[in-house]
Amino acid sequence: MSSMDKIVSLCKRRGFLFQSSEIYGGLNGFWDYGPLGVELKRNVKEAWWQDMVSRHNELLQPKGAPSTYEMVGLDCTIIMHPQVWKCSGHYDLFHDYMVDCRESKKRYRYDQVRGRWVEAKGKKVFITALVEAEQEDATLQQRALKFFNLRGKDADSLIWDGPATSLADIKEFENVLAPDAKELGTLTTPREFNLMFKTIVGALGSDDDAAFLRPETAQGIFVNFKNVLDSSRVAIPFGICQVGKSFRNEITPRNFTFRSREFEQMELEFFCHPETSRAWYEYWRNRRFDWYLKHGLAAERLRLREHAAEEIAHYSCGTADIEYAFPFLPTGDYGELEGIAHRADFDLRSHMEGKLVKNAEGQLVVEQGSDGKPKHRGSGRDMSYRNEVSNERFIPHVIEPSAGADRATLAFLCEAFKEDQAPDENGNMQTRTVLQLHPRFAPFKAAVFPLVKKDGMPEVAMELYGALKQKFPVFYDEKGAVGRRYRRQDEVGTPYCITVDGQSVSDKTVTIRDRDSLEQVRLKIDDVVAEISRRIES
Ligand code: GAP
Repeated sequence: MSSMDKIVSLCKRRGFLFQSSEIYGGLNGFWDYGPLGVELKRNVKEAWWQDMVSRHNELLQPKGAPSTYEMVGLDCTIIMHPQVWKCSGHYDLFHDYMVDCRESKKRYRYDQVRGRWVEAKGKKVFITALVEAEQEDATLQQRALKFFNLRGKDADSLIWDGPATSLADIKEFENVLAPDAKELGTLTTPREFNLMFKTIVGALGSDDDAAFLRPETAQGIFVNFKNVLDSSRVAIPFGICQVGKSFRNEITPRNFTFRSREFEQMELEFFCHPETSRAWYEYWRNRRFDWYLKHGLAAERLRLREHAAEEIAHYSCGTADIEYAFPFLPTGDYGELEGIAHRADFDLRSHMEGKLVKNAEGQLVVEQGSDGKPKHRGSGRDMSYRNEVSNERFIPHVIEPSAGADRATLAFLCEAFKEDQAPDENGNMQTRTVLQLHPRFAPFKAAVFPLVKKDGMPEVAMELYGALKQKFPVFYDEKGAVGRRYRRQDEVGTPYCITVDGQSVSDKTVTIRDRDSLEQVRLKIDDVVAEISRRIES
């Protein structure tokens, strides 16, 4: 079993994640968080919110920041005025390319189908598969053998040409064997597919009532920029944060929750003066990278990738992705956790003037329709900012660190998953499964066990459990051997297990066992709440 298979299986078995609508066969690209998963993801989002908004001190200049700044929050609707998506560019441009298979009637994202050229019996074909990286080679070989009507022992007669590559690198599909086809050349040419989910607002149901589920939370922030400015005392530089659901009709959702159709984002739009925007971009890029390191992602599996000039939007002076080497990816590949983009004044101007495009001179101008009028008209509202001291008026530049709550949760889960050796209840070394989650993220911060269900131990344990529960989620367990109870907690990432034994009843002390070091210390019961709080915070 690969480590990813073990993680997926643990998630289901211990109630972190379930396939949505599983009893009806599931719905591809949708996931439900179980009792432990909901706590884990809430903790990730809460840590982000605390670090970005509620614990931010606007009076102090954080290390590396160009100046002090303010941070506020927002919670906007999922369905917004359709014009929002026309001006943001999502209506015209937010699409992927897909191909349809005429034989299997399946639809694939063009760039996600991978395959390899292979020759046998005088014919060369591009065999494809849509599988996890670890299974790619074996699946391609199996499909090639089947296609050429060869047996396993004939594998040497297959002549492979070059490594596996994306279908997007192939020009003609005539000799392509689609992932679920038996015949060659069944794929259509690539077509655009808008990723926004469409819905109807109101009872009439005509096309005029069409609306979209937001594909990002960011636009709610841009369209409320003036409301926030006018209703709070914030002054530039300041940031507006939002955490919430986003929806994308991904053609091929895959890799567990990594690419889902319904997911949560944690986005900041940081508004600053154009002259300082580069410095703010660098600040946020580094600060966000450090956030993942601080919360346990290993430096050797995390990287900050600055986009090359040709990848960056023309109006921007920088974009970087924070990427993680997820275990389901081929060795050396990374998946995006968060993007940090310098968006200049593109969004505020679009919502003010209308959808922008680049003209022949490389300047952003309002896109014209065939009638010479703006293709998608903006709100006409003034989105500029006036500095009350200098009286300078300008359209702020925006730095956007945009993170996925589900991807971050998945990365923390993958990183935390370990199998090590630990003594069982008889002192014999055994393989144990442990989630070494950062204590801030652990669904339960502690578990309380009476050693046995008699001699006054349960009463002491229950009292301690009640006191701890006032502060954070705690688990109470009196069933089975204590060693097995430790294992059950290790597997779900509980950092501290507190055992009430015979000595506890007489001298009011308990032992605290550390999940990672396995070290046990004895402590006064009265000090336990403070000690666990201290350890979680540190
Ligand atoms: N406002 C900018 C924006 O939405 P993005 O790179 O498209 O940028 C930001 O998305 C983050 O949202 C990604 O880095 C990723 O963590 C998360 N995300 C995007 N699409 C996702 C999907 N289909 N499933 C899960 N998370 C996704």
